[in-house]
Amino acid sequence: MSPTTAEPIVQVCNLTMRFGKKEAVKRINFSVSRGAVHGFIGPNGAGKTTTIRILATLQLPTEGCFWIAGENGLVEPRKARQKIGYMPDFVGVYNGLTVAEYLDFFALAYRIHGPRRKTLLDSVVELTDLGDLLEVEVQVLSKGMRQRLCLAQTLLHDPEILILDEPASGLDPRARIEFRALLRELQQMGKTVFLSSHILTELSSICDSVSIIEQGEIVADGRIDDIMARLAGSGISFQVRVSSRPEDALAIFDAAPDVSRTRVDGNVVKFRFSGDEQRLHELWAPISSAGISIVTIRREEEDLEHIFMKLTRGEVS
Ligand SMILES: Nc1ncnc2c1ncn2[C@@H]1O[C@H](COP(=O)(O)OP(=O)(O)OP(=O)(O)O)[C@@H](O)[C@H]1O
Ligand SMILES: [Mg+2]
Repeated sequence: MSPTTAEPIVQVCNLTMRFGKKEAVKRINFSVSRGAVHGFIGPNGAGKTTTIRILATLQLPTEGCFWIAGENGLVEPRKARQKIGYMPDFVGVYNGLTVAEYLDFFALAYRIHGPRRKTLLDSVVELTDLGDLLEVEVQVLSKGMRQRLCLAQTLLHDPEILILDEPASGLDPRARIEFRALLRELQQMGKTVFLSSHILTELSSICDSVSIIEQGEIVADGRIDDIMARLAGSGISFQVRVSSRPEDALAIFDAAPDVSRTRVDGNVVKFRFSGDEQRLHELWAPISSAGISIVTIRREEEDLEHIFMKLTRGEVS
């Protein structure tokens, strides 16, 4: 994973949003470390877009406060906005312009003039791989290309943090892989990325940390591994097939610390293991020392989708 610092670039305190009687976001707290790719995950209607619109300074919260790169988002929304590149969940583009004209228009809107505009546009076009599409009219772009164009647009003012609402939705598998690579590149450039999704597995490989939201409340927050370890609780299940003497192998595993629920099924020894990586390495040596050959080891961890279901009781796509 890329370097992140403990210094939070986004801090959210008791953020609450009510629409009439509907409490869409309920006193949520979380922070995002500078340089991190942070996932904001939750099922449909959980409150992701509402929170994101508040952070993008497009909507005032009912209560609570937030800081973006040291700026109080309620007191200094303009300053906060300058630090943010925001991509909404629904991206509309102005028709009748080519990709080049479109980006140039936004660069002008950001008051980027002179030679700097050309340099900046070139670098953003290269980063988002739009070079071959510059003369194409925006209305004929595919969803994936349009997504890249909108990301390019959000990068024009060189924001410190990108806030992306469901950026990968509707992308095909290849476009998703390319999108992930682009996020990594942005992270290497020192940007912080805060992105939402309703699919935990979609983000697990790229996120340093996540906040999981359900019905307006944060139900888990932190590194995915830590969340998984906490929820999986009782450890990992192993099924070890040995060539012979399964009862002897069982006795050896039984004697090891961090091992429980041992049993034998034919030549397979089954148990739960709740120790750390180091202890796991030490688990196998006594078996070989006893002259027993291990044929296969099957490890069953709770998968991410299962954990997401546990956390949200919601629907997994
Ligand atoms: N302007 C509004 N007026 C009334 N209710 C709203 C408004 N905006 C959002 N809500 C409600 O707030 C809740 C959270 O909506 P939000 O759009 O933030 O969810 P989400 O997590 O982004 O969902 P999705 O995954 O479907 O995009 C929903 O119940 C929604 O109906
Ligand atoms: Mg949404």
